[in-house]
Amino acid sequence: MYIVVLGAPGAGKGTQADILCRKLNLPHVASGDLFRQALEKKTELGLLAKSYMERGELGPSEIAINMILERIGLADCASGCVFDGFPRTLEQAEALDKALMEEGKSIDKSVYIRVPQEELIKRLSGRWICRNCQTPYHLVAAPPRVAGKCDKCGGELYQRTDDKEETVIERLKVFFEQTLPIVDYYKKQGKLIEINGNLGIQDVAEEIISALKPFMIADVKNSD
Ligand code: AP5
Repeated sequence: MYIVVLGAPGAGKGTQADILCRKLNLPHVASGDLFRQALEKKTELGLLAKSYMERGELGPSEIAINMILERIGLADCASGCVFDGFPRTLEQAEALDKALMEEGKSIDKSVYIRVPQEELIKRLSGRWICRNCQTPYHLVAAPPRVAGKCDKCGGELYQRTDDKEETVIERLKVFFEQTLPIVDYYKKQGKLIEINGNLGIQDVAEEIISALKPFMIADVKNSD
């Protein structure tokens, strides 16, 4: 299955994509993580993305598209993956559809996680991320077992520089102006699943799995 997880900054895309990937045994393809990894390694792409990320703006679409197409060209994505943070514009959504179509594939479902704006700000201000495996934690909602250390890999936790208030406000503005139209794009294709993301992490995960289940069964039946 190819699944797109959509939502505003802080909606829980990374958190839910991670849970979904473990449940469905699919790779997690997160454009923000790929940009941050490039930045850590100080590659040309990372240095280019840095200024956009610091301002809370989207990086150039062409770069994001090439980076994602390269990632899904790897063997582990041959039969599916969970996209998180991509696509983010109509141009990116169309480019992804075109690339998948050329391989005889398509997006199966797009999960839109809806969360009120005041909750998004609370989540982003309490977020800590693993520098090594990118797992997100939250000081209150999802604290690590040992302060400052990742439960999964023991990596160091840090706060993203784009989680400061003025950048968060810009990221939210960018989401509503440039990314929200994608919700309609997938709705028109009959692929959209809307989820109330203003619940606890496990409750949101259960809602997503139960909304996807009928299509997962259909998938298995079709492959019989
Ligand atoms: P990206 O990394 O994709 O950031 P984002 O979309 O702003 O989303 P976030 O990662 O901030 O939030 P999330 O929804 O994943 O929430 P999370 O699960 O962490 O992009 C960063 C930048 O990279 C962009 O601004 C842009 O510059 C660039 N970029 C990336 N993709 C691009 C593209 N395609 N094109 C161009 N540029 C691109 O959760 C947040 C917090 O809340 C965590 O602490 C978590 O523990 C907590 N939490 C999660 N769920 C719940 C819950 N249900 N209840 C309580 N707390 C919760």
